Amino acid sequence: MAGKLMHAVQYSTYGGGAAGLKHVEVPVPSAKRDEVLLKLEATSLNPVDWKMQNGLLRPLLPWRFPYVPGADVAGEVVEVGPGVTNFKTGDKVVAILSHISGGGLAEFVVAKKSLPVARPPEVSAAEGAGLPVAGLTAHQAVTQSAGVKLDGSGNQKNILITAASGGVGHYAVQLAKLGNTHVTATCGARNIEFVKSLGADEVLDYKTPEGAALKSPSGKKYDAVIHCAAGIPWSTFEPNLSANGKVIDITPGLSAYMASAFKKLTFSKKQLVPLLLIPNGENLNYLVNLVKEGKLKTVIDSKHPLSRAEDAWAKIIDGHATGKIIVEP
Ligand SMILES: NC(=O)c1ccc[n+]([C@@H]2O[C@H](COP(=O)([O-])OP(=O)(O)OC[C@H]3O[C@@H](n4cnc5c(N)ncnc54)[C@H](OP(=O)(O)O)[C@@H]3O)[C@@H](O)[C@H]2O)c1
Repeated sequence: MAGKLMHAVQYSTYGGGAAGLKHVEVPVPSAKRDEVLLKLEATSLNPVDWKMQNGLLRPLLPWRFPYVPGADVAGEVVEVGPGVTNFKTGDKVVAILSHISGGGLAEFVVAKKSLPVARPPEVSAAEGAGLPVAGLTAHQAVTQSAGVKLDGSGNQKNILITAASGGVGHYAVQLAKLGNTHVTATCGARNIEFVKSLGADEVLDYKTPEGAALKSPSGKKYDAVIHCAAGIPWSTFEPNLSANGKVIDITPGLSAYMASAFKKLTFSKKQLVPLLLIPNGENLNYLVNLVKEGKLKTVIDSKHPLSRAEDAWAKIIDGHATGKIIVEP
């Protein structure tokens, strides 16, 4: 691939939204010792992609400009570094790229050999690309933080999932229902039937008084809340929690960390647990296989060609996706 050019979409400064994205021709990268070069088949966007452009992790990330965003990819291996033994040319994979390197909005990208997992033919590239950040976050929240066992063993837990129609939420509902759970979910009115179809036992419209109060229609108290929405105060959660209930906040701000520390220091039984994704290839492989077996689905909000990546970018900024937003070269 040396000397070959590819189409990529990048930004060179903080801010600017969709208009800040620029289409460029840049050299195809080459795979170093422990890397594979992927010809991209699909990339999915996550809110963190535009939040980084907006300066959320400034000055740490983006590490340098210009920056090609996009961490969730599916692609075909077209080159392997000399230290790579687990993949060969022609393999189809799903991978999570580091936010330091980024690179998903392009025709080719390099990934560390430890990050990709095989994509079987039963899982489309778009379905695979939806999984890394959103699926792994849902998996971490449901299993590690909420303690749900996905083989259905364990005591029954009552779980609330907010923003259940979104990227993380729609995976979280499906994963939670693999366990011994009763799931209450919140979403907008237009998505109530959709969220029920994912397996939620009861669904609240977040724009109604009952939905805003997060009250379970069947009177359940929640053992865990997988909080995928934003801007809901602790005082709204607190009366709806069981004695040892916890709120797993996947968009924690400084106040969430402070509240979490305060609750630990005061030995509060009800806890606020900030969650940051720790990507794990084994878990990504597990999710890909769930999709293969028909036990988990990636619901696709919309697909956009790379040539119109700014449309996908505007949509993720808008915050009203149902499932995942996909970009295809
Ligand atoms: N901690 C981590 O490592 C981590 C990892 C992944 C994601 N996150 C964060 O988690 C959040 C969710 O991510 P995502 O990918 O799921 O986002 P997303 O797909 O953009 O979420 C959009 C969905 O959320 C719904 N929604 C918005 N506000 C709501 C509310 N108050 N109540 C109920 N539903 C609401 C929208 O419904 P309507 O269209 O009807 O409004 C829409 O369907 C983001 O802030 C993201 O940055 C954190």
